[in-house]
Amino acid sequence: MTGTRLESLAAIEAALWHELAAAASNPQHGWRRLVLATRAGDAADARTLVLRELDTDERTLLFYTDARSAKVLQIAHRPAGTLVAWCAVLSWQLRMRARLEVQAEGLAVSSRWARLALTPSAQDYLAPAAPGTPIDPGFVPLPAGRTHFALLSARIESIDWLELGERVHRRASFDAAGARWLVP
Ligand SMILES: Cc1cc2nc3c(=O)[nH]c(=O)nc-3n(C[C@H](O)[C@H](O)[C@H](O)COP(=O)(O)O)c2cc1C
Repeated sequence: MTGTRLESLAAIEAALWHELAAAASNPQHGWRRLVLATRAGDAADARTLVLRELDTDERTLLFYTDARSAKVLQIAHRPAGTLVAWCAVLSWQLRMRARLEVQAEGLAVSSRWARLALTPSAQDYLAPAAPGTPIDPGFVPLPAGRTHFALLSARIESIDWLELGERVHRRASFDAAGARWLVP
């Protein structure tokens, strides 16, 4: 997709979904790591997540997380979030409003955990204490506990696309009502 200047909104929308699918399978892609912003009471919170899977038909991105992490509680209170991603190769930024959902059990979770459990990444979900728990000086890591692996899905409701050009920038939005050009 690099090097081609797409002219129509339809071509841009198709290309951005194509690139998101590429990011889900290519660890080097600029959109592989996105920032997810959520509401934390009266404050805003945000963190980096790795894009693991994409269901283009359902417009849904899938992430892995620890069911005890702060974001999971925030999502339970307010399932609206915004994902932000920048790819220097494409020179494209995405800001995506999404409905968030966390699943901590069921076949979708257990089938992915079965694969992940055999890899070093499994340790990320086996810590005996929740992520963010304060650690005393001289803390000795406890042996791994049971898994707290969970799936975080983000169903995209609208996309704000920004292209940074050398001289001209372009911006467009895509949602259920259609697509339109915006002043960058
Ligand atoms: C490059 C990078 C990738 C990360 N990927 C994930 C991820 O896929 N899932 C996740 O839960 N946390 C991931 N993290 C850690 C989160 O950014 C965050 O620190 C952690 O999830 C706790 O966030 P919370 O307290 O808001 O729940 C990643 C951090 C970095 C720097």
